[in-house]
Amino acid sequence: MGHRSWMRSQGFTPEVFDGRPVIGIATTWSELAPCNVHLHRVAESVKRGVWQAGGFPLEFPAMALGETLLRPTAMLYRNLLAMEAEELMRANPLDGVVLLSGCDKTTPGLLMAAASVDLPAVMVTGGPMLNGKYQGTDVGSGTAVWRFEEDLVAGRMTQEECAFAEGCMARSNGHCMTMGTASTMASMAEALGMQLPYSATWPAVDARRYETAQRAGQVVVDLVRQDLRPSAIMTRAAFENAIRVNAAIGGSTNAVIHLLAIAGRLGVPLSLDDFDMLARDVPTLVNLQPSGEYLMEDFCYAGGLPAVMRELADHRLLHSDAMTVTGSGIGVNVADAPCWNRDVIQAVAQPFQPAGTGTAVLRGNLAPDGAVIKQSASSPHLLKHRGRALVFESPADYYAVSNDPDLDVDENTVLVVRYCGPRGYPGMPEVSNVALPKKLLLRGVRDMVRICDGRMSGTAYGTVVLHVAPEAAAGGPLALVRTGDWITLDVPARTLTLEVSDEELTVRRAQWQPLAPHASRGWTRLYTEHVLQADAGADLDFLVGASGHEVPRESH
Ligand code: FES
Repeated sequence: MGHRSWMRSQGFTPEVFDGRPVIGIATTWSELAPCNVHLHRVAESVKRGVWQAGGFPLEFPAMALGETLLRPTAMLYRNLLAMEAEELMRANPLDGVVLLSGCDKTTPGLLMAAASVDLPAVMVTGGPMLNGKYQGTDVGSGTAVWRFEEDLVAGRMTQEECAFAEGCMARSNGHCMTMGTASTMASMAEALGMQLPYSATWPAVDARRYETAQRAGQVVVDLVRQDLRPSAIMTRAAFENAIRVNAAIGGSTNAVIHLLAIAGRLGVPLSLDDFDMLARDVPTLVNLQPSGEYLMEDFCYAGGLPAVMRELADHRLLHSDAMTVTGSGIGVNVADAPCWNRDVIQAVAQPFQPAGTGTAVLRGNLAPDGAVIKQSASSPHLLKHRGRALVFESPADYYAVSNDPDLDVDENTVLVVRYCGPRGYPGMPEVSNVALPKKLLLRGVRDMVRICDGRMSGTAYGTVVLHVAPEAAAGGPLALVRTGDWITLDVPARTLTLEVSDEELTVRRAQWQPLAPHASRGWTRLYTEHVLQADAGADLDFLVGASGHEVPRESH
C-alpha cells in the first residue's frame, strides 16, 4: 500500500499496479548539455510505446554530461554517470530500462551502467543536429571549429566571420553531426545491438526518431517478457561487430576507450590489440567529416548504419547472428537495408579508404601498454616520421608559447604534450590535437606529428598519437622524454620509439618526480586514486564487472 499510495500522488489509476512491467526511462536531459536538451520529448515518445505494449513507464534523471561546458573534461564524470545510473537502476523497482543519451559520454556511461545491472535495456540516442550551413557550404560541428580557429590565427578569416559562423553550425537540437564521438557511440550502440536499426542516424528533429523512440518503448516491454538482457546482447561477437563498424564508419578513437570499459563491465574479454587486428581487413566506407566530406544528415538519407552493416555482412565482416534488442540477429535486421547514395556510403569493393587505414594500435618503448592513432584523420606523409621532440608539461604550457615567432619548431618537430592522461589532467581530456604553432600555420603547414597521453575529439583531425599508456602521471616513459630527443613513428610497423637508451631512461626515471595530487577530497580524489589506464578503458578499478539487479532487503 505504501508504495502504491505514494506513486498515486502522480495521478496514476490503480490498474497500473497490476503487475505489468515497470520501465525506467533514464534521461540525461539538461540545459547544461545542449546536445541532450530535447530528450524530454524523446522520453514522451518512449512512454507512448511502453503504455502501448502494456508496461508502466517512469522517467528519471541521470547525470547529464555536456561536452562543451563541463570542466575540466566531461570524461572525468563518465564513470560517475555510470555509477549513478547503475545504482538508480538497481535500487528502484524496475523491470527494464530505456537509456536516453546523446552527447559523447552519456552513451557509454549509460551502457556501462546497464551492463553492470543487466536489466533488459534499450538505448535511444538523441540523434545528430541538422547539417551546419555557412556561406552556402556544409559545416560540421567540432571539425569546423578547429578549422575556423586555425583560419582566424592564419588571417584567412575575420573575427566577424567567425562570430557569424558560430550560429550557422549548431542550428537544431541534437548532438554533433560529424562522425565525432557522439555519432560514433550512437553507431556503436546500434552495432552492439542495443538500439533499434536506424537509431544512430535519424536527425534529432526527424519525426522518425520519435517514431523509433516509441517503438523502443514497445520493444523494452517485450525484452522484459522474453527476459532478454544486455549480457545476452553485448557478447564478444557484438563487440567484434562494433569494432569493425567503427572502422567502416571512420569512427572516433574514443570508441576504443568506451568499448573497452563497457566490455569490462560484462566480463567480455577485449583488448586494445583487438581494435587493430579486427579493423585491419575493414575498409572505411563512410565518407563523413572529419575523415571525409559529408555529415550525419547525408549519412541518414544515404541509408544510415544498416546500409553499412549490410555491406559488411555481405562480405563476411559481421557476425550476423549476434543478438539485438529486436529479438533477431543483426544480420536479419540489416539484410534488406538499401543504400541510396554510394558517394556517402561506399562499397567494400570500391571503398572510401582502403582496408587497414582505420585506428592503429602502436607499441614501443614510448608506449609499452599501447597508444592509438586515427590513420584516416592523419596526413599520409607523416605516418612514417622521425623528428626531434619538443616537450610540454601541459597544453597550457604549449599555448603560452605557441604564437611565439621564435619558437624553435619546424614541420619535422614532434610535439609532445604530456600529463593529459586519466590521472594527469585529471579525466583524460580531448586536448591532444593542439593547434599548430602560429609560425608554421603562417607558412602554410597544416599538420605535424603530435604525441599525447590524452584523447582527441572525434571531430578532430591531424597526425596525433593518442592514449599513450602508461600515462606520464603514472610514471610512463612519456614522462621521461626531453626536448631534443629523437622519436620515430612508424604506423605501418605499428611502432612508436623513443631513441634513448635503456640506461639513460633508468637515470631519468630516478630523477622523475610524480605530480602532486589534484584533489584531497571528493570525486576527483576517488577518481584519480582508482582510475585505470586508457588501455583498460579508464574505468574505475572497483567498477569493473557487474553486480546484477538484485536488491535483497525491504527497507520498511
Ligand atoms: Fe555534444 Fe559534440 S558537444 S556531441
